[in-house]
Amino acid sequence: MSVPLLKLGAVVSTMIMVSNWMSQKLPALVGLDLHAARPGTSEKLVSVWSPGEDEGWQVFGSVQDRCVCSIMSPTHTLCGGDPRHDRLQRLANHVLNVSQDMELLNQRTAQDLQHLRDSETLLDALETRLKTAHDDPHSLTSKSLQDLRWSVSQCRPLRALTGRLRADAGQLESLKEELGRLEDSLSVLQELFTLRHYQRLQERSSVLQQHLHTCSSQLGCGRLTGISAPLTVRSSGSRFGSWMMDTMIDSSDNRVWVMDGYLKGRRLVEYQSLYDFANGQNFIIHHLPHPWAGTGHVVYNGSLYYTKHHSNVLIRYSLASGVVQHQQPLHQAGFNNTFPYSWGGSSDIDLMVDELGLWAVYSSTPHAGTLVLSRLHPHTLEVQRSWDTGFPKRSAGEAFLICGTLYVTDSHLAGAKVHFSFHTDTASYEYTDISFHNLYSHISMLDYNPRTRALYTWNNGHQVLYELTLMHFIRTARDSDQPHAG
Ligand SMILES: *[C@@H]1O[C@H](CO)[C@@H](O)[C@H](O)[C@H]1NC(C)=O
Ligand SMILES: *[C@@H]1O[C@H](CO)[C@@H](O)[C@H](O)[C@H]1NC(C)=O
Ligand SMILES: *[C@@H]1O[C@H](CO)[C@@H](O)[C@H](O)[C@H]1NC(C)=O
Repeated sequence: MSVPLLKLGAVVSTMIMVSNWMSQKLPALVGLDLHAARPGTSEKLVSVWSPGEDEGWQVFGSVQDRCVCSIMSPTHTLCGGDPRHDRLQRLANHVLNVSQDMELLNQRTAQDLQHLRDSETLLDALETRLKTAHDDPHSLTSKSLQDLRWSVSQCRPLRALTGRLRADAGQLESLKEELGRLEDSLSVLQELFTLRHYQRLQERSSVLQQHLHTCSSQLGCGRLTGISAPLTVRSSGSRFGSWMMDTMIDSSDNRVWVMDGYLKGRRLVEYQSLYDFANGQNFIIHHLPHPWAGTGHVVYNGSLYYTKHHSNVLIRYSLASGVVQHQQPLHQAGFNNTFPYSWGGSSDIDLMVDELGLWAVYSSTPHAGTLVLSRLHPHTLEVQRSWDTGFPKRSAGEAFLICGTLYVTDSHLAGAKVHFSFHTDTASYEYTDISFHNLYSHISMLDYNPRTRALYTWNNGHQVLYELTLMHFIRTARDSDQPHAG
């Protein structure tokens, strides 16, 4: 009897295992990859990704300090509506019937056994008496004969007992066959359940992974809503300079590059890590083949991009080979302090990288000094497309790009804030009021790194980081034809 119950137990525990598997796997499937939530970036997710109604599953994302995606399973259970579920239910009832029958049989057998034991005692007594009568026939009295007869009559139920036991043996045999059949059905069902459920979960999981991929790729870009308190990494160098890390999103290069000063410098210092930089250790000094101008340099995919001194020539310098791979003038771009940021310092051309690629911020005489933003080809340095933001470049403290949106500060001095932004996707601008703490009062470099998702600044001889709060608008399939929320 214990065999089918064990089997049933196995089916039930398989189902429990399946739901445990789900509760363990699904958060991992949807819990966004930690890469999506980089340390030091706090983000708030505004909208919800919801798959089609027929899908039944809903994925909710919320990002606060770290990325969390939750899944709501459909209200009907995984097994509901499944004909195999009914079959299993019937089988379970059947097993219950059979075990009740077994239980009855068991009770009866126990009673019968007691009866047999009692009869055994009687038979023993009878045997003794018969032996005595046999040994000494004279001892037989009518009284003792009556006793003997009574003893024999007491053993009469044994006949009924034998009949019952014979019947029970028959029932036991048929129950055994029944159990064999049940066991077979359960094995078949169990295999069906496990395999089909596994396949269905696999399908679900791949659909969810697609959603997750879409979800996290949309999470990548956000709109700036806040800048953290400054974090001073190090105090080194002169008042003006530039420091950076590779901005290529999937790079694992954590070296820090430092270019102190803005005029005619050629000394490029390489630190093995941010830790080494913070501690001023483990560095190598490189000499660039051409001196630089300004502080608008950027490191992208293993190359340093910078402006050649006294020119608007852009240089792509390979950090691995130490060779200039390409030079290309940025046509019409002002240089030699013609259209610098408010602090001067030959900051005419500011190169930067965001999630979309390489860009240059500059101005020109035809643009009458307004800030121009151009998308550059990372190899040829050719301008691919340009936008005139209309903002006077000399009034800008600094500028940085996040996801194709240019953010411009109104000053390089204390009290500076991000007060203008230009969206390249819609070629529109707006005024913003995002303040930040300009701790050392003179900023000569401010750049966003899309890989580390932090702002890097050179603040009066201090190298400072800011964390950002980015607001994400995730478009659902349903509202995709509405205008972009940003
Ligand atoms: C279980 O027993 C009841 C009554 O004894 C019967 O009506 C029912 O059909 C049985 N169920 C199965 C699955 O054999
Ligand atoms: C990055 O550099 C590698 C090797 O130099 C090159 O193969 C790859 O195309 C580059 N990627 C981009 C986006 O420029
Ligand atoms: C740039 O300015 C320097 C002096 O500040 C001058 O000597 C040089 O000729 C200028 N170069 C050009 C191309 O205007």
